[in-house]
Amino acid sequence: MRDVAVIGAGRIGAIHARNLAAMPGVRVAGIADPDAAAASRLAAACRTEVIALDAAFAAGAVVIASPTPTHADFVERAAAAGCAVFCEKPLDLDAGRVRACLAAATRASILLMVGFNRRFDPSFAALKATIAAGVIGRLELLSITSRDPAPPPAAYLRASGGLFRDMTIHDFDMARFLLDEEPVGVHATASALLDEVRAAGDIDTAAVTLRTASGAIATITNSRRASYGYDQRIEAHGADGLVAAGNRTATSLTLADRHGFRTDPALPFFLERYEAAYRAEIATFIAALDGEDVTFPGGEDGLRALLIADAALESSRSGREVAL
Ligand SMILES: NC(=O)c1ccc[n+]([C@@H]2O[C@H](COP(=O)([O-])OP(=O)(O)OC[C@H]3O[C@@H](n4cnc5c(N)ncnc54)[C@H](O)[C@@H]3O)[C@@H](O)[C@H]2O)c1
Repeated sequence: MRDVAVIGAGRIGAIHARNLAAMPGVRVAGIADPDAAAASRLAAACRTEVIALDAAFAAGAVVIASPTPTHADFVERAAAAGCAVFCEKPLDLDAGRVRACLAAATRASILLMVGFNRRFDPSFAALKATIAAGVIGRLELLSITSRDPAPPPAAYLRASGGLFRDMTIHDFDMARFLLDEEPVGVHATASALLDEVRAAGDIDTAAVTLRTASGAIATITNSRRASYGYDQRIEAHGADGLVAAGNRTATSLTLADRHGFRTDPALPFFLERYEAAYRAEIATFIAALDGEDVTFPGGEDGLRALLIADAALESSRSGREVAL
């Protein structure tokens, strides 16, 4: 039986804990969260108990799903206890702090996986496999559309590190995942078009271009408000063709009448859209713990996505491309 403790019983911690509890051969070793009510609700749902933080690091493997400012400390505490880690993104909002925490993980030789769940979405994974198999030839253009249905509360925005580090970081990881080579330059343009986001000091609308040394170009467009649901699409254009993954809807119905063709809206948000991805992601963590030959986003991927986010912020302020 593989024991995995979960730190943080909020939105994403609950997903991971429930997915772990549903896996054969896996036991949720306990839930640690200072919010006693949230911890005991989730513990009951996962047939486990509420535990203290130290007990979580003694479980041998831990999922860190607490707020971002806690991540780096918890990774270091896990490393000190020789405990394997699945840590939600981002590892920290400061690249220097991320480097220190990766050094601790490396010194302790612990397994460290970062929660870039979109790599495990069945459609995006198939898109990656299609590119890797050479079906569309050399990848020349990548177009990533990533828009939230509505902005988060002001308190979240103020602590989030800004759009690029909080939201676009997933798209930066996806661009790195799909491109054959690391981007060497980033250019970003950003606006604050929504009153509540502007009041919180953040941006909500952005267009980012990444360039690789061989000339492949990835564009990312973000918005914190999409009236038609959670908009998550990718198109990859290569020398010999194109492969695209569109939005998912609750049913595959198309209704046509004199007003036109209609489908269901896009799935509401990340919990629904990436349900399968979260399951595959945590199953990969378990497979890695079991020594299986699986690939997963590690600490270095977490750092590189953050460095691109920092460069995008700099570019959006200076108006110039920033070298990576
Ligand atoms: N990969 C994804 O798709 C995804 C989605 C959402 C959130 N996240 C990341 O997951 C993290 C949590 O986000 P969320 O939306 O679940 O937040 P949340 O606010 O819903 O939940 C956070 C939980 O952590 C608990 N907590 C606070 N301090 C703690 C501490 N010191 N020790 C243990 N628990 C503590 C809170 O009581 C709360 O229950 C963030 O870093 C966020 O960036 C990732």
